[in-house]
Amino acid sequence: MSPTLDAPLQVGGLRLRNRLYRAPLLEHAGNGPEAADRLVAELEPAAASGAGLVMQGATPVRGYEGCAAPGMTGFDDPDRVASMRRLTDAVHERGARIFCQLAHGGLRSFEVWHHEHRAAHPDLTQRAVSRPPWPLRVLDAVGVVSFDVEVLSTDAVYALAAEFGERAAWAEAAGYDGIHLTGANTSLFHQFLSPLYNRRDDEFGGDLAGRARFFEVVHDEISANTDLPVVTKVPVETEAPRFLPHVDWDEGVAACERLAAAGYDALVPVRTTPFWDASIIKGAVPERAWADASLTSRYERAFGGPVRFRAVRALAKLSARRHGFEPAWNADLCRVVRDRVDVPVFCVGGLRERAEMDALLGDACDAVGVGRPFYAEPRLPARLLTGDARAVCESCNNCVVPQAAGLPGTCRTPSVVRERMRLEREGAYDTAPADSEPEPTD
Ligand SMILES: Cc1cc2nc3c(=O)[nH]c(=O)nc-3n(C[C@H](O)[C@H](O)[C@H](O)COP(=O)(O)O)c2cc1C
Ligand code: SF4
Repeated sequence: MSPTLDAPLQVGGLRLRNRLYRAPLLEHAGNGPEAADRLVAELEPAAASGAGLVMQGATPVRGYEGCAAPGMTGFDDPDRVASMRRLTDAVHERGARIFCQLAHGGLRSFEVWHHEHRAAHPDLTQRAVSRPPWPLRVLDAVGVVSFDVEVLSTDAVYALAAEFGERAAWAEAAGYDGIHLTGANTSLFHQFLSPLYNRRDDEFGGDLAGRARFFEVVHDEISANTDLPVVTKVPVETEAPRFLPHVDWDEGVAACERLAAAGYDALVPVRTTPFWDASIIKGAVPERAWADASLTSRYERAFGGPVRFRAVRALAKLSARRHGFEPAWNADLCRVVRDRVDVPVFCVGGLRERAEMDALLGDACDAVGVGRPFYAEPRLPARLLTGDARAVCESCNNCVVPQAAGLPGTCRTPSVVRERMRLEREGAYDTAPADSEPEPTD
């Protein structure tokens, strides 16, 4: 019989009390002394309301370098990572588990488009797998982005992989239960896997075995330094323009098979493009967010003036039109991968309804992740785990665009906020599910 959302799941040596996880999202906790407390405020409600697993948003292994968005919390400082004990304790006290997401953005580093950040950190360079691909060089030439690239030598790739292992050991000491890698979303991992970005002629380039090698070396570094389960997103570039080299469906499935064989404890296959565009989130054109006059000056400061703001806005609108919302948009891919691997497959992207989640479990996937709806309903698991509920989030992306200007991730659609408040008044989030008793932690 297929499991339902409330059934436990084993991931490597770790038992999760159920199959619902909070997907990694930007928390805007920053690098200051209050970072851990901000993360507790953001993530503890998911644990308290019953989620089995909380995936913290990306934490760059080199702090400011390779940082994909404003407000991330760098895992480059051992004291900062140790301070996360407050967060891991808070999650464990509520019976859930927590993974951090070790990250490096490579060319997807936000100083390439964020003028204030570039001005504050003029020495930042972007570590690259190879020279940027031509579409990015065109954007650089017309001034939409501005690169200052350093291609990683073979030794530098191994050194970076070793840093992932070291940070994972710090995370384990701080009480994290597992490591999630930013394998997709145009991260450096994604850039290694992608034939558009990766034109190397050493052991990290060439065929799929070479392009997947960075994932494998990082996995081995983490396993050599910790006992933690390791999970990664795997980008399958089915949404890429046909004329560009890309990881197609067959190669993406083969990559998942390789990574399972290499020892990954769970995989999160996602359909995407090679670019940081709306394929990662899909959904409506966020007109309300772009048009908010109170934010215009912030956008102009971030993007470097009104002309560049208008250019970025036009590109974002085009991209959003190409990638409209589809419920459970990664489910078909997950189903095929799940048939080929013997580790759990996590499905994320457009999952909103309890009935749909139960239908996918044991068929297309073993666990389901929910992202943006947590901005609208921080205690959403209380509803999903206790009844045939549907998240109130409308996937409109009004919460996403303001984050480029450094604003926190929170629901910005008044009708949705009103609905959440109505549910609050009715007590819909008051009851944690019956089996949310704390799991024993070591
Ligand atoms: C604002 C924002 C930040 C995100 N940050 C991350 C991240 O740090 N790491 C990651 O792997 N995915 C990130 N994602 C992608 C989500 O984990 C998820 O895959 C995506 O939002 C689709 O799920 P949803 O439809 O439930 O929101 C982010 C998404 C959003 C909207
Ligand atoms: S603004 Fe609110 S409704 Fe729209 S995607 Fe974000 S959380 Fe969902």
